[in-house]
Amino acid sequence: MNIDKIRKDFPTIDGKRVYLDSACQSLRPVQVINAINSYYKEFPGCGGRSIHKFGNKVSEEVDRARESVRKFINAKERKEIIFNRNTTEGINLIANSFNFQKGDKVVISDKEHNSNLLPWLFLKRRKGINLEIVKTHNGVLDMNEFSSKVKNAKFVSILHSSNIDGVTNDMKEITKISHENNALILVDGAQSVPHKEIDVKKLDVDFFAFSGHKMLGPSGIGALYGKKELLEKLDSFLIGGDTVKDTTYDSYILEEIPERFEAGLQDYAGIIGFGEAARYLMDIRKDIERHEINLNKILTEKLKGKVKILGPEDASLRGGIFSFNLPNMEPNHVAMILDEQNVMIRSGYHCVHSWFNARNIKGSARVSFYLYNNEEEIDKFVNALKPLLK
Ligand SMILES: Cc1ncc(COP(=O)(O)O)c(C=O)c1O
Repeated sequence: MNIDKIRKDFPTIDGKRVYLDSACQSLRPVQVINAINSYYKEFPGCGGRSIHKFGNKVSEEVDRARESVRKFINAKERKEIIFNRNTTEGINLIANSFNFQKGDKVVISDKEHNSNLLPWLFLKRRKGINLEIVKTHNGVLDMNEFSSKVKNAKFVSILHSSNIDGVTNDMKEITKISHENNALILVDGAQSVPHKEIDVKKLDVDFFAFSGHKMLGPSGIGALYGKKELLEKLDSFLIGGDTVKDTTYDSYILEEIPERFEAGLQDYAGIIGFGEAARYLMDIRKDIERHEINLNKILTEKLKGKVKILGPEDASLRGGIFSFNLPNMEPNHVAMILDEQNVMIRSGYHCVHSWFNARNIKGSARVSFYLYNNEEEIDKFVNALKPLLK
């Protein structure tokens, strides 16, 4: 991976501003920006509806994007990829389309993003599902507790990599145990897909939700993978235009998958940009994680003993995430001071309020790396932080 060459693809990388907030949202290369613009500039029609030149071109490009995203996660078939707005929508789609009943057991972990906590809390309140929450210790899921709580569970919904501390769960093992207990499994892949090679067939997960904006794609576009045989049994909870083959005043025949789950006019520019992002990353992503861990090790070495790091001490277990706290300083204050020096990091509860509240921690400051970051940027960050370390 040639980082200097990659950096040139990103218009906002200018040597002055240091962007260390890719776990929230990544920067976009010019290839993705051009792909988004191509829709508005060249063929701004309705895909799958109008049969003129613009419409046909949109349908072709959406198909191409779906194929690129399929290949990116190695799904078996293109129809197993549902386009939606983001990870949050994918999880909500499953939580609400699946026929959960009172007493059904759903297992999650104690480190889920609100996107993978609230849809289940909502079902607990509305339908009376039995929500079981498995603990993590120093970032790592308690597999004994998981094995015990998954017994008689109907469903497991667990994050792959954490946005708080970067720790990645052993999804193959979690999936194996879930299936041995006849539970289906949904994975929140928001923080893993951008950084690792994901093979949903090898992992054998049933559903996998992720977002385009963390993997160089546009904001507001994401995908939900589902095994064909499972998706075909689901009714979508969002229906309307494009989700049906035919209607009368008192009946309708649902479309096949994936269209059945893609209600209303789609974000064509977003889908096309998402496909381009998957193609951009396809050949280089095998090196991304190694690069990020390398940066994380360098940063950890520089700041060891000077800040309180969240999660395991060993940087290789934290991927591209370095979450930390300084004594007597609010994380937001740290981020604001750094921003004055053109160093952008994230601060706060990272949408995992439940985890922080349970530990009485008032959030954290978070550095997150991606393929375009380099060592020089670490130095700029450390220099900007230095006055606060005294
Ligand atoms: C682990 C994790 N899950 C889910 C989400 C939600 O993603 P989105 O806002 O794109 O739906 C995020 C976003 O930061 C995340 O980090």
